[in-house]
Amino acid sequence: MNVLRVGIILGGISSEREVSLNSGRNVYDNLDRERYELVPIFMDGGGRLWVIPWQLVSQNTTTDIADHLEKEARCISYEGLRDEIDFAFISLHGKYGDDGCIQGLLEILGIPYTGPGVLASALGMDKDAQQKILKAAGIDVPESVTVTEDEWLRDEEAVRKKVEDAFSIPFVVKPIREGSSMGVTIVRDPAMLERAMAAAFAWDRIALVEEYLEGTEFSCIVLEKEEGPSILGVTEIHPQSDFYSYDDKYMPGRCSKFTPPRTITADVVDRIREEVVKAFVTLGFRSYGRIDGFVLTDGRVLITDPNSSSGMAPSSFFFEQAAEAGMLPSMILSELIEISLRIHGEKKGPLQ
Ligand SMILES: Nc1ncnc2c1ncn2[C@@H]1O[C@H](COP(=O)(O)OP(=O)(O)OP(=O)(O)O)[C@@H](O)[C@H]1O
Ligand SMILES: [Mg+2]
Repeated sequence: MNVLRVGIILGGISSEREVSLNSGRNVYDNLDRERYELVPIFMDGGGRLWVIPWQLVSQNTTTDIADHLEKEARCISYEGLRDEIDFAFISLHGKYGDDGCIQGLLEILGIPYTGPGVLASALGMDKDAQQKILKAAGIDVPESVTVTEDEWLRDEEAVRKKVEDAFSIPFVVKPIREGSSMGVTIVRDPAMLERAMAAAFAWDRIALVEEYLEGTEFSCIVLEKEEGPSILGVTEIHPQSDFYSYDDKYMPGRCSKFTPPRTITADVVDRIREEVVKAFVTLGFRSYGRIDGFVLTDGRVLITDPNSSSGMAPSSFFFEQAAEAGMLPSMILSELIEISLRIHGEKKGPLQ
């Protein structure tokens, strides 16, 4: 029997390329070498693909890797990817990575991959579109308004009025398509609006302004089992910063996380399970996802951030929840590959 060649695609073009490197390196370290042949594939800042030797996977930063590419790696064409791998483990995050772009390329090449298809991946990235769809399906989401960069540049005062008519202080400003809390600001004073808009527009041409949610944040990994999607676990998050910031996410020891939850009660966990699975299905997510939300002080469960992929660093929700469910990293990674192969085996046209 031929061993499945699994390409671990890491790096990429987005703001989250270092997060991607951490994820990809950990996936590489933990995938079962008896079941799979591992092929690390680095996407450089220009979108080119390189087959890299294992020594480069352990570099600290994507810049360190980029410095060694010409001498130690092999640049391949997109079409050439077919000759290298049978399956793509997408460890890219953010724009071009889990927003439908790489998924579209892999569909054209006929290479099965982790995570959902083009449309659902794009919805997982677009915070305005996902909220509209979830809301239409009766799922509780934060109230929000969008502000385009043009609108802001044309008339700041009009935008200020639009935002202040919709929300009282504090409220949240974020770029419509980002991850890892890039460009997110909790506006606690009207004087902060300008800085918050600039932070969001550094990443995208549309900003999303949301009501500020008071409560407890949670995150759930969802796996699409044969009998249907179900959550792996619920993690309760207590950030050390003002909110769950980039540093809280990735600096070891910065943030307290509890799997299973510490203060969220069992009946609320049941509601979280229902809402999260409903959100997964509503957005057309496939294979797996990471869906975040809040339990408000009045007990309401809101879905705030459905992600069509998950960080996979050692301390990620993905591996924490797997451990709590009794699965070693290699076991959950194998399961994810098998789930993805099954759904790609059943598809008619690109994965829906
Ligand atoms: N409406 C809100 N009310 C209160 N806090 C919020 C709100 N929106 C975002 N936050 C805080 O900001 C963090 C980042 O926001 P969000 O989840 O939208 O960003 P993201 O960049 O998509 O994150 P991820 O890396 O999880 O994909 C949240 O984890 C939360 O702590
Ligand atoms: Mg997100």
